[in-house]
Amino acid sequence: MKTVLVTYYSRSGNTKKMAEMITKGLVVRGIKADLIPVEEVPIDSLPGYDGYIVGSPNYFGTMAWPIKKFVDESVKYYKKLEGKAAAAFTSEGVIGGGGDAVLLDILKCFLIHGCVVQGLTGIGHFGPVAIGAPDERIGKEVDILVERFGALLEKL
Ligand SMILES: Cc1cc2nc3c(=O)[nH]c(=O)nc-3n(C[C@H](O)[C@H](O)[C@H](O)COP(=O)(O)O)c2cc1C
Repeated sequence: MKTVLVTYYSRSGNTKKMAEMITKGLVVRGIKADLIPVEEVPIDSLPGYDGYIVGSPNYFGTMAWPIKKFVDESVKYYKKLEGKAAAAFTSEGVIGGGGDAVLLDILKCFLIHGCVVQGLTGIGHFGPVAIGAPDERIGKEVDILVERFGALLEKL
């Protein structure tokens, strides 16, 4: 069974809700998903996963520092995560607040790890970007992301 780490930072709960929706979607599709706040992820668990879905609130157009800390600590496994799948999600305060930049910053880190990222068409191209709490639109985007991510995992 494929196993995915869904991790996030969230101060007021919006990104956490997205992480819960993503985890539920993975489990429904028969994928084992560990939902863990980023501060609690044992860095040594990273090589054991087939994929990573990482969420951060938009803080000044990039990821919140606990997510960056996690990414920086993941350098311990540089070259050991190659070929695994990765995706990102974010919540921001306003439309156009820089959410795409947040996603690309997170995805860039996983590309540098040699991970494989699925692009998306017809929805947020780099991953779901909620405005505040996730709504019905984000529910649909999460469904599509999870479906594509599951298909990607099968190919890797
Ligand atoms: C330090 C800080 C910086 C922020 N910067 C931005 C920003 O650049 N653009 C934006 O749209 N929202 C920004 N926000 C708003 C948050 O991204 C937004 O409230 C988000 O939904 C919070 O997610 P959470 O509930 O998971 O903590 C910022 C909030 C904080 C606390």
